[in-house]
Amino acid sequence: MDRLVIEGGARLSGEVAVSGAKNAALPLMCAGLLAGEPLALANVPRLQDVATMARLLAEMGVRIERDGSRMVLDCAAIERPEAPYERVKTMRASILTLGPLLARCGEARVSLPGGCAIGARPIDQHLKGLLAMGAELRVEHGTIQARARRLRGARILTDLVTVTGTENLMMAATLAEGETVIENAAREPEVADLAACLNAMGAHVSGAGTDVVRIRGVERLHAAEHRIMPDRIEAGTLLCAAAITGGEVRLTAAAPGDLDAVIDKLMDAGCEIAGERHAIRLRAPARLAAVSLRTAPYPGFPTDMQAQFMALDAVAEGTGVVRETIFENRYMHAQELQRLGADIRIDGNTAVVRGVARLQGAVVMATDLRASACLVLAGLVAHGETTVDRIYHLDRGYERVEEKLSQLGARIRRVH
Ligand code: EPZ
Repeated sequence: MDRLVIEGGARLSGEVAVSGAKNAALPLMCAGLLAGEPLALANVPRLQDVATMARLLAEMGVRIERDGSRMVLDCAAIERPEAPYERVKTMRASILTLGPLLARCGEARVSLPGGCAIGARPIDQHLKGLLAMGAELRVEHGTIQARARRLRGARILTDLVTVTGTENLMMAATLAEGETVIENAAREPEVADLAACLNAMGAHVSGAGTDVVRIRGVERLHAAEHRIMPDRIEAGTLLCAAAITGGEVRLTAAAPGDLDAVIDKLMDAGCEIAGERHAIRLRAPARLAAVSLRTAPYPGFPTDMQAQFMALDAVAEGTGVVRETIFENRYMHAQELQRLGADIRIDGNTAVVRGVARLQGAVVMATDLRASACLVLAGLVAHGETTVDRIYHLDRGYERVEEKLSQLGARIRRVH
């Protein structure tokens, strides 16, 4: 099991490129299922989750060719419209195959994703929307058995904002008969990126990126090319790495417009930030000021950046209050930060983080993707050596993170 060993103290500086977005790549690969002709994706990140999704689709009969950051999915023949438990349990995003399979094949057998480290994460809204579109759904032995001769357009008002729920229903609706309206839709940039790809494939999606998405169903979709948007969470994480070390970086292949809430908080913490068309520059103060934040659906502060900001607050001047409103158990990084000497008090969904002058390196354990990133950030400034264990969590969502951080001057190495 790989681990990362970090020698704290280096001030990060230099330039690094941001990879394609994991949370856009995963639904986009599933969108390929909707057409009998090839979908070519560019700027595909090299991530464990992308490899898992590719394996899942290949087991269904999809032919996938990968050449560097380019991937072509040929879904002409889907032999087995199913996502078995052994795949789904390693990656919840497998649920994104349900809508496309049902729309394209008229049937699907997808395992219920269990809970995960950060919360129960039910998929009731996904199922509610598909039922509204006329799907017959049965759950037997932990597997969703779905059938629909042809889905019908419907008006769907989700009880809460769900990113993959919006994406699943949007994809299913592209081949439904009539118009579907999704109200209370997620506004994340990844939803808009998926809609752009679906429209390139011949779908009629409008309003993506707002809370009302309209989809006029068509008979079939066709071949298309699509370039995946930059990963705004990787970009935010790299900006935090520069911020926590008092450094100065320039991120290329980035989309500053997707990070307004994160950039606002980094400026409140004392960083100078300049956005260019496809780049972001940050210069950090010697010591950050603590910031308070509350996670919320886009365009609010992203829950996927909460752990990273807890690391910033752990060594900042002052006290920050962090409120996690999206997931019920997304503070597991706190006790690991406490092993490094952080002063954090958790009370329900609120964490009070009192900045300390210095963290002490230690062995810590990653528990989920963004918690891993938080511990790496803390290791960059902790005094002495920090070892982050179980970094397979990190590899799910960050491409070659130690190489990118080394490129910026971090003293970090992977130990097999
Ligand atoms: C997506 O997960 C992201 N994953 C997550 O990123 C991200 O944290 C999350 O959105 C919130 O922004 C992908 O896009 C692949 P939700 P998703 O459905 O879609 C509840 C990462 O680190 N809910 O928006 O699963 C749910 O329990 C990952 O890259 C229901 O109750 O999140 C949660 O409390 C982690 N019923 C809240 O809504 C449902 O049917 C938001 O979940 C669906 C969701």
